[in-house]
Amino acid sequence: MRNREHEIYDVVGIGFGPSNLSLAIALEEYAASGPGNEMSAVFFERQSSFGWHRNMLLPSATMQISFLKDLVTFRNPTSSFSFIAFLHASGRLPRFVNNQDFFPTRQEFHQYLEWAQARVADRVVYGSEVTSIRQPSSTATSPDRLLLEVTDATGRAGRVIEARNVVISTGLVPSMPAGTERDERVWHSSEFLEKYRRTDPRELRRVAVAGAGQSAAEITRFLYDDLPHAQVFAAVPSYGYSVADDTPFANQIFDPGAVDDYYFGTEQTRGAFWRYHRNTNYSVVDGDVIRELYRRSYDEDVHGVSRLEFLNLTMVTGVKRVGTETRVSLQSGPDAEVRELNVDVLVCATGYDAMEPTGLLGDLDRFCLRDEAGRYRVERDYRIVTSPESRCGIYLQGGTEHTHGLTSSLLSNIAVRSGEIVDSIVARRTA
Ligand code: FDA
Ligand code: NAP
Repeated sequence: MRNREHEIYDVVGIGFGPSNLSLAIALEEYAASGPGNEMSAVFFERQSSFGWHRNMLLPSATMQISFLKDLVTFRNPTSSFSFIAFLHASGRLPRFVNNQDFFPTRQEFHQYLEWAQARVADRVVYGSEVTSIRQPSSTATSPDRLLLEVTDATGRAGRVIEARNVVISTGLVPSMPAGTERDERVWHSSEFLEKYRRTDPRELRRVAVAGAGQSAAEITRFLYDDLPHAQVFAAVPSYGYSVADDTPFANQIFDPGAVDDYYFGTEQTRGAFWRYHRNTNYSVVDGDVIRELYRRSYDEDVHGVSRLEFLNLTMVTGVKRVGTETRVSLQSGPDAEVRELNVDVLVCATGYDAMEPTGLLGDLDRFCLRDEAGRYRVERDYRIVTSPESRCGIYLQGGTEHTHGLTSSLLSNIAVRSGEIVDSIVARRTA
């Protein structure tokens, strides 16, 4: 990182996943586009090195979007940070094309993200968590500045950074079933591989996975294949996994133009987005994964084996520890009958809540305006609407589903969104 600890930054990014990585590149490319365009920027990331949902980097998991929706291409198709540029640099471009597949593995896409972040790493401070954002004590003297408190990996309260704009991109928040706490035998999917690698596989004779989304299906498939001695239970709230709609017309909701249609639409049109197209992303599974799981289940029938058990119309409603066993309460069937299942591990692939910046904003939150439903009001340029006492830019990358639509938590629009944020910062700087 450049030695700018005591300087005021034009842009401070909180979190360094794909969204803010895309922003760092957009800033870099803007700086290179003309004299005087350089903006000072720093990004804080609490992980010790770059990682994108590392605990779900399962061997055969593939991307859920085309590789062309990378960090840059939709904003700048000639960027040297594209997935194609990465393939070229890795010497794999011809072979990738021979694959004739729009959807690389998550492991390969992770390599791409690592390659890209290495080229902007001088702006990133890893192992650093932003714990609060506040207004300087005298807003009268500096209403256009914010102070950020940053703690290092040891928990030592460290630096206070001044920013003209902050871009919050802290990611999704894991959600557990009500009445369920995480521990060494009850895991959320977001911690799956880390916990799994710490456990002796011989101890895993009966494992259960809760959920009917992509994470649940991938983990069920993985456990079934990796633990040939184990009984695998899949508690799915639906009658069976439903397919993620990625057909061309439905996929248009992820186009950059759909953000305007959503943002400037009516309550009615916004409602239609959700009513018709929630199944492009939530509680749904890629068709190939569904077929692979069904094939395994059918093969068991053929061979008279019963190691994979789907518990349909079933919710996890609680967990307790009994000796070394984990006792899971399951509610299922038309009478909502409750029964118990003893397992060695329960994996809750029960989804995520949206990014929630309220904790970070602390006292500053009172300057941030909300709608009638209590949600942040957000400008089209992703800036929280603030009262006149605060003139800084507080931008959100994530947590804007209510204003900008389904792409808020996804990769589909990060290239364009980052460009729009840079344009907004530039426009406000020169206004
Ligand atoms: P992301 O969560 O990636 O990054 C946020 C970062 O902020 C984290 O690195 C975190 O450590 C850091 N952080 C949090 N609080 C902090 C603080 N206070 N201070 C400092 N750092 C902090 N979408 C899609 O379009 N296509 C896909 O294929 C997939 N695949 C996929 C797989 C899995 C397993 C999941 C769970 C999700 C997806 N997604 C997806 C959706 C996913 O939200 C998306 O891919 C990106 O992770 C969004 O990137 P962000 O940078 O916004 O968040
Ligand atoms: P999700 O789609 O929100 O699915 C969560 C599932 O858990 C739903 O089926 C939900 O049921 C169920 N559930 C909630 N509470 C439950 C309970 N108490 N008992 C049983 N089931 C319960 O979450 P996700 O699968 O983690 O996916 C989140 C995001 O990550 C999506 O964007 C997805 O595409 C992405 N992802 C991508 C990949 C990849 O790229 N390969 C891999 C994994 C995830 P209800 O529907 O009834 O609420």
